[in-house]
Formats: sequence, C-alpha cells, structure tokens
Amino acid sequence: MQKDTYIFALESSCDETAAAVVKNGREVISNVVATQIEIHRQYGGVVPEVAARKHLESINLVVDEAISQANMKFEDMDAIAATEKPGLVGCLLVGVNAAKTLSLVYNKPFIPVNHLKAHVCANYIDTDLKPPFLCLLVSGGHTQLIKVSDYGQEEIIGETMDDSVGEAYDKVARLMGLPYPGGIEVDKLAKSGIGDKHRFKLPKARTSGEFDFSFSGLKTAMLRLIQGLEKEGEELPVHDLCASFQETVSATLFEKALSAAKAYDIKQIALAGGVAANSEIRRKFFDLENQGFKIYAPKMKYCTDNASMVGAAAYFLH
Ligand code: KG4
Ligand code: ZN
Repeated sequence: MQKDTYIFALESSCDETAAAVVKNGREVISNVVATQIEIHRQYGGVVPEVAARKHLESINLVVDEAISQANMKFEDMDAIAATEKPGLVGCLLVGVNAAKTLSLVYNKPFIPVNHLKAHVCANYIDTDLKPPFLCLLVSGGHTQLIKVSDYGQEEIIGETMDDSVGEAYDKVARLMGLPYPGGIEVDKLAKSGIGDKHRFKLPKARTSGEFDFSFSGLKTAMLRLIQGLEKEGEELPVHDLCASFQETVSATLFEKALSAAKAYDIKQIALAGGVAANSEIRRKFFDLENQGFKIYAPKMKYCTDNASMVGAAAYFLH
C-alpha cells in the first residue's frame, strides 16, 4: 500500500492569511483562513502595506490553529508549501518565510507554489478529477483559459487584455456604492430575482485572440450608464444593473470557454478563482452537464484564497 503524503501549506498573497493540512492532494485535514476583508473595506480595496502587517500579526495563530485542528505534528508532514507568486510582495514574504522556517526547523522540503496554479488545483480537492481538462480561471487579479493536458502541464490559450473579471466586478460594485469586495455583493443583488437582466443592453467585447477577454469596455459602459441614471436624479436600479452586468459577464465567459472546449475537443471543464463562486457563472456551466460535459467547480471556501489549494498544488505539481 502506498504511504499517505501530508503537506502543510500556507497562503498569504493578498488579503487572507491561510494555513492547511492536505492529504494526498485531495483530502483537506484542516483549513484555516484569517480574512482581512473588514480592514480593507474602509479603504475600498486592499492596501498592500496594511495587508503585509496584518499577515505578520496572524501568521503564527493561523499556523498553530491549522496543525492543532488537524490533530497532527509538523514531524508528521512530508513537506511545507507556500504561495510564492504572483501577489503582493510584502504579503508573500510573510508566508514564504514562515514556511521556510518550518522547513528548516523540522527538516522538511519546502515547496514554492504559484498562486494561479493553486487555484486550478483547488479542483482536485474532494474530487476524482484527472487531466485533460479546460480550466476557466477567474480571480481578482487574473482571467485565463488554461488547457491542462497533464498534472503540471498547462497552456494558457486565452486571457484578458485588460481588467480581470474580479476587478470588473469590484469596480462596478464601487460605482454603485456597494462595499468591497464587490463581486459577492453584485452576485447577491443579481440573484435576488428582483432584477431584470435584460433591462440594460451591455457590450460584449470583441478581441483579436479567439479565446481572449476584455472587460474594460463593459466597465466603462457601466460607468456611463450609472452616471446617466444619477444625472436624471433617479434612485439607482441596483438590482437591474447587477442582473444585467452579471448576465453579460457570465455569458461572455461561458461562450468563450465553451467554444474553446469544442475547439480543443475537451469534455471536462473546471472553474477556478474567487469569481468561480459566482452563482450565475456556476449555473451556466453546470447546465452543460446535459450536453455531455463534466463540470468541476471548487466548494465556495476553496474558490476564494485558501491554503488547501496550495497544498493540493504542491502535491500534484511537485
Ligand atoms: O481568487 P480570489 O480570492 O483572489 C485573487 O486571487 O484575486 O478572488 C477575489 C475576487 C474578488 O474580485 C471578488 O469580488 C471576487 O473574487 N468574488 C466574486 C464572488 N465571490 C468573490 N465575484 C463574483 N461573484 C461572487 N460570488
Ligand atoms: Zn487568488
């Protein structure tokens, strides 16, 4: 029988300090996240210097909590992993230094993990997903279509030319006076059922690359629309605005990903990143299961930043 592999993983690239113990890349033994959202909300976005200081405050607590919730010792771990890039450098340093210290003290290998690959690998948690698959990675910083041919063998076949989807959500939310991070707030209003998703016709960008994306035009269209409504002195129809925006974004992502899956003849599609928590994006994709596709999307807590996905990536990619 093969020996089980346990990885202790850390994530600190943005505004969550997180630690986890992951078994064989698929089973989460403990998952602890200290979020800084409340702190950054007052600034309307993440302040890098504040974020780095908060990580320093939280890291030891999160590390202790994750190992004790797992009811294990560092001696039981096979490796220590941490997000190495991309992200805010002052924030990344906190997690990487903590992980390197643990690896030195307990004489365990240190595994540096790419944050984007970790989001993709969140799809291995609690599933039997095996490559090949197409991954739509939609986070606060990135929007990519990735062809995963094998474990660790990825090719970016499309990406955004300007804003990421998460950025577009957050900026549009701010225009409507919704709190940071706006994605989840827009989703809440859009899915309330009160709004009319066809009330506002919004542009779907054309891009030169067949599977590339662009969201800055949509963001500007929302800005003009909101300014126009405000000028008329109307109370903003936030439900209609959110529903219309969400319909345009989700349809754009869905159409591109589906045509890529057909072009590459791939029957498994995985969603990843914070925006993969979005209700309408999930609904559109899961509907494809009626057409012979198999759809994967991490549980909500593994969509937004967490360390379990880092542990999964460390296992499958190294
Ligand atoms: O992956 P993530 O936690 O951090 C990055 O690596 O960037 O993604 C955060 C992004 C934010 O822009 C947030 O607004 C968005 O994910 N988000 C959502 C939803 N939940 C989080 N966007 C749309 N709908 C949601 N339900
Ligand atoms: Zn992320």
